[in-house]
Amino acid sequence: MSSYLLLATLLVAAVHCLDNGEGLMPPLGFNTWNHFYCNINEKVIRQAADAIINLGLKRAGYNYVNIDDCWMGKERNDKGELVPDATRFPHGIKALAEYVHSKGLKLGIYSSAGTKTCQGLPASLGHEVIDAKIWASWGVDYLKYDNCNHDSQSGPVRYAKMRDALNSTGRHIYYSICSWGEEEVWKWANKVGNSWRTTGDIEDKFNSMRTIYQRNAKLYSYAARGGWNDPDMLEVGNGGMPVAAYRTHFALWSMAKSPMLIGCDLTKVPRDSLEILLNKDIIALNQDKVGKQARCILNCADSDFSKDSTHPQFTVVELENSNYAVAVTNWNDNTAFKDMVVSFAALNLPLKSYKVRDLWLHKDMGPVSDTFTVPTVGVHDTAVYKLTKA
Ligand code: GLA
Repeated sequence: MSSYLLLATLLVAAVHCLDNGEGLMPPLGFNTWNHFYCNINEKVIRQAADAIINLGLKRAGYNYVNIDDCWMGKERNDKGELVPDATRFPHGIKALAEYVHSKGLKLGIYSSAGTKTCQGLPASLGHEVIDAKIWASWGVDYLKYDNCNHDSQSGPVRYAKMRDALNSTGRHIYYSICSWGEEEVWKWANKVGNSWRTTGDIEDKFNSMRTIYQRNAKLYSYAARGGWNDPDMLEVGNGGMPVAAYRTHFALWSMAKSPMLIGCDLTKVPRDSLEILLNKDIIALNQDKVGKQARCILNCADSDFSKDSTHPQFTVVELENSNYAVAVTNWNDNTAFKDMVVSFAALNLPLKSYKVRDLWLHKDMGPVSDTFTVPTVGVHDTAVYKLTKA
């Protein structure tokens, strides 16, 4: 290849890669949508930022404060720029970003790769460059880019336009693609965004959480540092599921290397939900540098990893230093599973002995050889163990 041709090839590759240095680990933070929907304003955002500090969530690793749909006014200004809704955000987004940054946190914003957002407000298709520029000038650190009201251009084309616009601002902006699993997004999005929604919207109900988890679980091979499958935001704390189901939601999202965006009202988060959200041992599984998504290994039942509710389901993920995490999920609606004996070999683990730690009870079970016993997993609950070399 001539050197000119080589240079041209490298330039094309550079332009068409994401390569924004973001998302080396899944993002942790808060997003307004699952609790507030369109009922947002600058006070809600400031209070969320304050709560992230005061409740110890920042210390646990959460650092994004993300505004979802409904922040923008109904019309662009004379220069064609998006403007914040003057009633909800009278001091503008820049001032809000400054407030959030002053707390050591980052600010996220939302738009759609269509002519309007899902709530019918102005969106960014055809305005990518001007919108990316204004967000960068406000100090925005994260963009969630939705899929409502698009034209006939394909997802890869529409989402790449915004990737290039964000890159050309020179600001580091995490790019979250929200195309609901359409056009098999997981097959092309790692060159475009830092994460991609693999499913429709989650609801604060056990069946919704389970269905979404199952769809996302089989896509484990597509997740890696810099680009993650996204089974949607957390419902923990919103009150629609028993605490056992919230433990399952949190543990499995963490091990799936999903973005972990809290979706409840942090000014009123119930104590048992806060305890889940603050579980640093479980958050550490999400932030582990190997960056692999967990995979169902035992009692997976069928190709979508899900339908077995008559046996405990074992999900395994490799961690740094050849350690592992094992989740034991009870999808059964009525029966607790008790005294389950499982061999390390059945979980495809390479060693015969491990030290086993229960990450909900924060309790070491000591060095264990060949098999270990899971004492009990209640209805819809998930036990989580970290296995380190004995
Ligand atoms: C879509 C997205 C949601 C949320 C709403 C906002 O439904 O999937 O996560 O952003 O739009 O209108």
